[in-house]
Amino acid sequence: MAYFYQGESRTFSEYLLVPGYSSAECLTKNVSLKTPLIKFKKGEESNINLKIPLVSAIMQSVSDDKMSIALAKEGGISFIFASQSVKNQAEMVKRVKNYKAGFVASSSNVHPNQTLGDILKLKAKTGHSTVAVTEDGTLKSKFLGIVTGKDYRVSRMGSSTLVSEFMVPLEKLVYAKEGVTLSECNDMIWDNKLNALPVIDASGKLSAFVFRKDYDSNKENVMELLDSKKRYLVGAGINTHDYEERIPALVGAGADVLCIDSSEGYTEWQKKVLTFVRNKYGDSVKIGAGNVVCREGFRFLAENGADFVKVGIGGGAICITREAKGIGRGQATALIEVVSARNEYFNETGVYIPICSDGGIVHDYHITIALAIGADFCMQGRYFARFDESPTNRVMVGGNYMKEYWGEGTERARNWQRYESEGSLPFEEGVDAYVPYAGSLNENLKITINKIKASFCNCGALTIPEFQDKARLTRVSHSSLIEGGAHDVYLKDTFGAQRS
Ligand code: IMP
Repeated sequence: MAYFYQGESRTFSEYLLVPGYSSAECLTKNVSLKTPLIKFKKGEESNINLKIPLVSAIMQSVSDDKMSIALAKEGGISFIFASQSVKNQAEMVKRVKNYKAGFVASSSNVHPNQTLGDILKLKAKTGHSTVAVTEDGTLKSKFLGIVTGKDYRVSRMGSSTLVSEFMVPLEKLVYAKEGVTLSECNDMIWDNKLNALPVIDASGKLSAFVFRKDYDSNKENVMELLDSKKRYLVGAGINTHDYEERIPALVGAGADVLCIDSSEGYTEWQKKVLTFVRNKYGDSVKIGAGNVVCREGFRFLAENGADFVKVGIGGGAICITREAKGIGRGQATALIEVVSARNEYFNETGVYIPICSDGGIVHDYHITIALAIGADFCMQGRYFARFDESPTNRVMVGGNYMKEYWGEGTERARNWQRYESEGSLPFEEGVDAYVPYAGSLNENLKITINKIKASFCNCGALTIPEFQDKARLTRVSHSSLIEGGAHDVYLKDTFGAQRS
């Protein structure tokens, strides 16, 4: 007969924090959200700490090099998706490690025989108003000029007008040569009243733009997550199939931390990957494993050398694993059990293994509940997919801007390696969907972080360990859940938009 767990499988919405005493010190500006990413011994510090407890999901629709750079600027880390060729993934890692703040690789490019209609379509898709014109429309060919919103008048020009007729050619542009410093570029921008300065390499290709609008953010950002050579930190996903080839390529490209991307981590395959890493690299390569939802799964990965353990099966916004296979566990219940196993392991061995709560965060306060339960950081997909920096298209659906967001277990992603299948997906475990477009990561993250810090203050805590010590959680009945939202009033339209 099957084993029956006591109690129900619960999720974050079923808990609330009860505030504690707050001293006059409890102000959001005094709160630090620093948290360890990888394991460390009692009395020591982790070798990698995040400045905010957030990481972006190992997904095609979430974490590429652009997202990695944006999140590292804010103190978090991305794990670049593994469901692509080893070469492409390693190149993305390299682009993050070679990134120089302020120098932006142009992602909206056309060739001179394209039309105004093409420019307008590109602008609607990417939101970019500066477009580079190159010989063949890619950055691999010679740079010929630019088109900005000032160069065309939609009401006076036909959509079939050729780009060559209204672009600003290189001869008329102010540009810089590769090797220039950011501060020299900013001076050129100010002296010449430019919005964008092209930087061109020795062979005449466009290596980057420097934008006037980035001037403020180009000044030093205290939240940046940097390595000892002042390069952004970046993570990368791996799978349990081609790891002998993928891991050396990612390590060679400069990945700071790896994570096994799998829907279910309590497997012999994960043991093989962890053993491979420890035999080949000792402790010099850092690797997280998962996902697990029970104490036995945690023990298994901890004893096989995982640097952090990821928790969660079936709670992701695009996930249908529970419907497809009846496999999973409520995210809060899974986390409570794994955190208690982690604490036991720490008491026994003196080794602290950080826990990542992966998926199922709907409201910002769910992050705070996850931290209160004992997670060290949260991995999110849906949250980050909504921003300008995610790799997917922004599209208009029913009069609203949306971003595409699809699971790794969809036919679209075809990430059969994540599901331990044999070369194909026998059935889907994810959906292909839209999420409401939300603007820039920076703007949204500010609000999220402020909400987390405000909850900490309500509970009288200024750091994550203090919060975990002081947090008091209460279960929420269905009726008190209703009481918690706006009720018994008629919402004005705008009020609905401002909540969330
Ligand atoms: P979200 O933050 O709720 O959107 O969940 C993101 C998480 O869902 C990821 O970090 C993965 O663990 C998980 N995930 C990604 N793709 C799929 C899928 O296709 N099916 C099930 N789970 C998925």
